[in-house]
Amino acid sequence: MTSYNFDEVVPRRGTASLKWDGLLERYGDADLLPLWVADMDFKTPPEVIRELVERVQHGIFGYTIRPDSYFDAIQQWFMTRHEWKVERDWIDHAPGVVPALGLIVETFTEPGDKVIIQPPVYHPFFSVVESQGRELVQNPLLYRDGTYEMDFDDLAAKAESGAKILILCSPHNPVGRVWSREELMRLGDICLSHDILVVSDEIHGDLIYPGHRQIPFASISTEFANRSITCTAPSKTFNLAGLQTCSIIVPNDKTRETFHNALVARMMGGANTLGMVALEAAYRHGGPWLDELMVYLSENLAFLETSIQSRMPRLRVIQPEGTYMVWIDFRGLGLETKTLEEFVVKRARLALNVGSMFGVEGEGFMRMNIACPRSTLEQALNQLASAIETLE
Ligand SMILES: Cc1ncc(COP(=O)(O)O)c(C=O)c1O
Repeated sequence: MTSYNFDEVVPRRGTASLKWDGLLERYGDADLLPLWVADMDFKTPPEVIRELVERVQHGIFGYTIRPDSYFDAIQQWFMTRHEWKVERDWIDHAPGVVPALGLIVETFTEPGDKVIIQPPVYHPFFSVVESQGRELVQNPLLYRDGTYEMDFDDLAAKAESGAKILILCSPHNPVGRVWSREELMRLGDICLSHDILVVSDEIHGDLIYPGHRQIPFASISTEFANRSITCTAPSKTFNLAGLQTCSIIVPNDKTRETFHNALVARMMGGANTLGMVALEAAYRHGGPWLDELMVYLSENLAFLETSIQSRMPRLRVIQPEGTYMVWIDFRGLGLETKTLEEFVVKRARLALNVGSMFGVEGEGFMRMNIACPRSTLEQALNQLASAIETLE
């Protein structure tokens, strides 16, 4: 028995939604079916809406402090969902994970310092490093037999070159890997032995498919915790990105003090009143909703895979272990990058993310967001299949 209706189609046009109302600006066409940016076409859990409504009805939205219950909700969430004991003192804040990444790079490196990333990867990882005059060091993932792995030999060589930070995407957007304990330990050992700070972006960490388990990097050992900063948020999990509230977990006292001072110096430490209410309600009451969401997303994934295998055999789905973003290999269509982009927009009438935005390794791939009602996904796949037929 399911309690939540993920089949409900909630119109989003006209709500200033980046995904729906930003199409004209981003894709030059307002009428595409959008399966791009990482938010969901589902309402946040009713328990969260209820607490937000109650707070809105109070009517005053002045400056806000974070109550004990807020910290407690975060601690309980990570304990019950991820078996990670987060101390209250470790929890700091930011208006978003990307702003936090920018601040971390700025604070813990000097211009010219090296920062490692693992492409194909979430595109702001490139810009937060390069826009601040730091040197980007790329440790590309290896694509083998339809799945991605880390290249540890290359990582060891690059770590040797004096990098200060590694930005880890865990789970990995866009390839959908949920890193195993062994993989994280190998990565952590390499970073620790070269005194590299591991900045682990775990924003997708609650969105894990059956058979896989999210291991917070910092939960593996005290040594790893001490040389890490973990960026988390309820924004992907519960569709709250617009409320701009996330937690930056920094177990080491000195590292945390440095981060916190930088945050305060930029006036970025304040709380978003509604974001704070939503975070607490989601972490306190959202577990059952999330469990049902993952069942629905698993079914969407199976639907997508069946549809692609039977109707679009020249495409290949990279089976995600977590996240609602699906990485699809379009190289079988034999189209050049520009032509492929145009084909998806003009012929399939879809807004997807082109793979090359995640690094050159993503050329010929597309990222599709399946966090939508099945009827929307079905429509998108029909449009794609019909467009591909015209190529044959
Ligand atoms: C890996 C990753 N990190 C961070 C973000 C964005 O985080 P925020 O909206 O909190 O800046 C996203 C959104 O797609 C993401 O995929």
